[in-house]
Amino acid sequence: MKTLRLELGPRSYPIFIGAGLIDKHALLTPYLPTAQVMIVSNEAVAPLYLARVTAHLNDYDAGSVTLPDGEKYKTLETMNRIITALLERRFDRCCTLIALGGGVVGDITGFAAACYQRGVNFVQIPTTLLSQVDSSVGGKTGVNHRLGKNMIGAFHQPRCVIADIDTLATLHPREFRAGLAEVIKYGLIHDGDFFAWLENHLPRLLERDPAALSYVIERSCAIKAEIVAADEREYGMRALLNLGHTFGHAIETGLGYGVWLHGEAVAAGLSMAADLSVRLGWLGEDELRRIESLLRQAGLPVRCPLSTDRMLRLMAVDKKALDGALRLVLLEKIGQAVVTGDYDRGRLRHTLAACRAEPFPA
Ligand code: NAD
Ligand code: GLY
Repeated sequence: MKTLRLELGPRSYPIFIGAGLIDKHALLTPYLPTAQVMIVSNEAVAPLYLARVTAHLNDYDAGSVTLPDGEKYKTLETMNRIITALLERRFDRCCTLIALGGGVVGDITGFAAACYQRGVNFVQIPTTLLSQVDSSVGGKTGVNHRLGKNMIGAFHQPRCVIADIDTLATLHPREFRAGLAEVIKYGLIHDGDFFAWLENHLPRLLERDPAALSYVIERSCAIKAEIVAADEREYGMRALLNLGHTFGHAIETGLGYGVWLHGEAVAAGLSMAADLSVRLGWLGEDELRRIESLLRQAGLPVRCPLSTDRMLRLMAVDKKALDGALRLVLLEKIGQAVVTGDYDRGRLRHTLAACRAEPFPA
C-alpha cells in the first residue's frame, strides 16, 4: 500500500492507494470518530462492495443509502435523500458519511456532508479510475443544475481517501477509459515526463496491469495533492486542474448529463484547449498531434459534438468566468498550463469550428 498525504494544516488527510484496501478494517475505523456512520453508494456499486464495507461496522450504528446510478441524478433532489436518511436516524453533527462509488456518489455525498448540520465528517472510498485519480481528492463537492454543471457545491475535505485498485476490475471499459482522460490531464498540466510515460505504457494501462495502475493513481494523486495544498480554494493555480473542463462541461450540459461521460467530455476539451493553444502560437503542432494521438489510443473522443454558437453560450456558464469574461486553461507546452482571459476570441471560434465532429459514441 502507498500512502500520500494532502497537507492542509488541521484538515490534512491521508490518501491510501493499494489492492484489497476495502477489506482492511484498521484503515477505515480510525476515521470514524463516533458510532454514527452512513454509507452512501448507488444501485450499481452497492451490490458489488457495500457488504464488504459494512462488515467492518458491526459495532457501529451504521446505515446506508443507495442512490440511483448516473450523472443525471447528481442533483439537489438526490442529495436530499441522504439528508432525509440522516434525519430519520437522528444522526448528530459528529456522524460520518462514507462515499462508496465513483465521482457522482463522491460529489453528492461530500456535498451532503458539507451541508448536514453545517458540516459533518466524511470519508471517500472511490471505486472508479476517475474518482481514484481526481474527484475523491481535494474537497470539491457538489451537484449539477439544469443550466450548468457543478454549479451548486462547497469545499469540504474528507478525513481520508481509501482507493482500492481491485475495485477497478469490475469497471466497464468505457468508464475506465473515461478515467484516463483525467490522468492524461495531469501529464499535460504539470509533468511532461508523466505524459511521455503514458505514451509508452498505455497498452499496459488498458490491460489494467496492477503495477501500472498503482503508478498512475499515485502520480495523479501526488500532483493533485501538491496543487490543492498550494491553493485549496482555487484562487490561483488550482484552476489548472480544469484544463479541458470549460469545453467539457459545456458538452455535458449541452448534450444532457450522462450522454457523454465526464471523462469523454474532458478528453474532447483537452484536445480543443490544445488546438486553441496552437492557434495562439503557444504550443507546437507536433505536441497537438501527440496529445490527440494519446487520447485516441485511449479510446477517447477528440472532437466536439456541438456547434460553435451553442458551445459559446454554454461555456459562458463557467466558474472561472470573472466579471463576465471567460477565462480558459491553455497549454504553453506539454507539462505546463496557464489560466488566462487574454486570448483572441476569434481564434476560440476557429477552434470550436475546426473541432466540430460527428456525434460520439457512434
Ligand atoms: P460515476 O460516478 O458516474 O461512475 C461511473 C459508472 O461506474 C457509474 O455507472 C457507477 O455506478 C459505476 N461504477 C462505479 N464504480 C464501479 C465499480 N468499481 N465497478 C463497476 N461499476 C462501477 O462517474 P465517475 O467517472 O467516477 O465520476 C464523474 C463525476 O465526477 C462527474 O460528476 C464529475 O463532475 C465529477 N468530478 C468531480 C471532481 C471533483 O474534484 N470533485 C473531479 C473530477 C470529476
Ligand atoms: N477537478 C478539479 C479540481 O479538483 O480542482
